[in-house]
Amino acid sequence: MEKSNKTIPRDSCTISPWQTLKEPFVAIADGSKTETVYDVIIVGAGITGLTTALLLQQAGKRCVVVEAGKIGFGTTGGTSAHLNTFFDATYPEVERDFGKQAAKELAEAGKEARSIIASLAGEYGIDCELEYKDGYLFSETGKQTDQLEQILQASLRAGIAVGESQTNDVPVPFERAIRFSRQGQFHPLKYIQGLAGAFQKLGGEILEESFVGDHGQAEGNIDVHIEGRSLRGRNLVYATHIPPGITSFSFRCAPYRSYVLGIELKDDNYPSGLAYDMQEPYHYFRTHKIDGSKYLILGGADHKTGHGDPEQAFSDLESYARKYYGVKSIPFRWSSQYYVPVDGLPYIGLLNEQVYIATGFNGNGMMFGTIAAKIIADMVLGIQNRFERLFSPSRLKPVAGFSEFVKENADVAWRFVADRFGIQELEKLSQLSTGEGRIAEFDGKKLALYKDVNGKVTALNPICSHAGCTVIFNAAEKSWDCPCHGGRFDLSGKVVCGPPRTDLEKVEFKGNKS
Ligand code: FES
Repeated sequence: MEKSNKTIPRDSCTISPWQTLKEPFVAIADGSKTETVYDVIIVGAGITGLTTALLLQQAGKRCVVVEAGKIGFGTTGGTSAHLNTFFDATYPEVERDFGKQAAKELAEAGKEARSIIASLAGEYGIDCELEYKDGYLFSETGKQTDQLEQILQASLRAGIAVGESQTNDVPVPFERAIRFSRQGQFHPLKYIQGLAGAFQKLGGEILEESFVGDHGQAEGNIDVHIEGRSLRGRNLVYATHIPPGITSFSFRCAPYRSYVLGIELKDDNYPSGLAYDMQEPYHYFRTHKIDGSKYLILGGADHKTGHGDPEQAFSDLESYARKYYGVKSIPFRWSSQYYVPVDGLPYIGLLNEQVYIATGFNGNGMMFGTIAAKIIADMVLGIQNRFERLFSPSRLKPVAGFSEFVKENADVAWRFVADRFGIQELEKLSQLSTGEGRIAEFDGKKLALYKDVNGKVTALNPICSHAGCTVIFNAAEKSWDCPCHGGRFDLSGKVVCGPPRTDLEKVEFKGNKS
């Protein structure tokens, strides 16, 4: 689907079906009340930020949400919107790395997230197309079937309603399938718009298009700096996926891109539930009706940000879809970003005094974003939350997670070396095609070059403003993506996501047509 002025903006060029909402949300905060000391400043207006804000405002706190773009600009606007009580970190893995009690707590956290979403949608009359469906997980090889048995048994031990299934709900041959009861799906932007409206009605403020550069301690409070001015609060919540700047979480969470297609079928062979295979990366399937038209939502082909070929990922996904379905058209193709925590579980809680974070949601952002909101709201309110310990950012990393940690970090270390000392193939400026971007060495300097449809070439310093890796062009999203910690920049160099706090530097050079 082509981008138009009518679509709700997102941190990527591709358009998710959620962005086609007819009535965009209107934030009413003017952000001029610089004398106010807020109880809580929440950075990021996705599901995590807005749920946190609403829960705290409901409890009588004075909150402001500050968002760099529009609400839903980040991953909430590009999610595939599954509401599962089983997660990318499987119950056997959680039992192995954290213990059986932790697996039970994780299952409880999932159920509570599902119930918070239902109860907020009910309480505020949010028509977000929330539906409960069965979820099918299926194996295609003997090895996967062994893993599936372990998942089944560990899920049952954790208290999840799951059992054998004779069907996998999709036309993909399978060896064995299990069925999780009462999984869910919804329209994520309708949901968070509803949250935002309820929050504003309770007196909460939302400041859109306000990029938070930094924060600092001030007389026992926190000053949050936003493009030349600042807001003061007693507490600060970074609901931005990864917290900005260089923190240990840049190294404890690996950024990934996931790809999704919204497909119209020639027949009515749409799945009735939610389905997942066990490949790596896995495919996921569900159906959603948007403006009266049914779509098969099919996702997968995930890869680490800045490490794969986004156009190839879309093409692989399309070939996969055509292998099993009669495809009539593919009106939606989109990608979005998520962060994989090194030990499998999210980090939710205090970053340091008065500053909270919620990150490492893996591909389960709607559920973990919701439970993160509840945990952080309780912590701010001084209420003991039963999941605080499980997701604590200061938890000791289990030994079992260490090999993965080393692998992720080794990759980052390799990038640091290669990006600083490797010699890239030199490309002459004239070889750039329109719509193409690449890293080239020009006049002795590495540059990130992009040529637009009118032939205008933009040049940026390709050294990521976060920690110095070299960005890579993402042809599908028309962005510059950093392979180290997932920082992403638009074609003008502006930060659109990830931990960088500052834009890529613009480089002026001769021959740049204006
Ligand atoms: Fe960390 Fe770019 S995001 S170096």
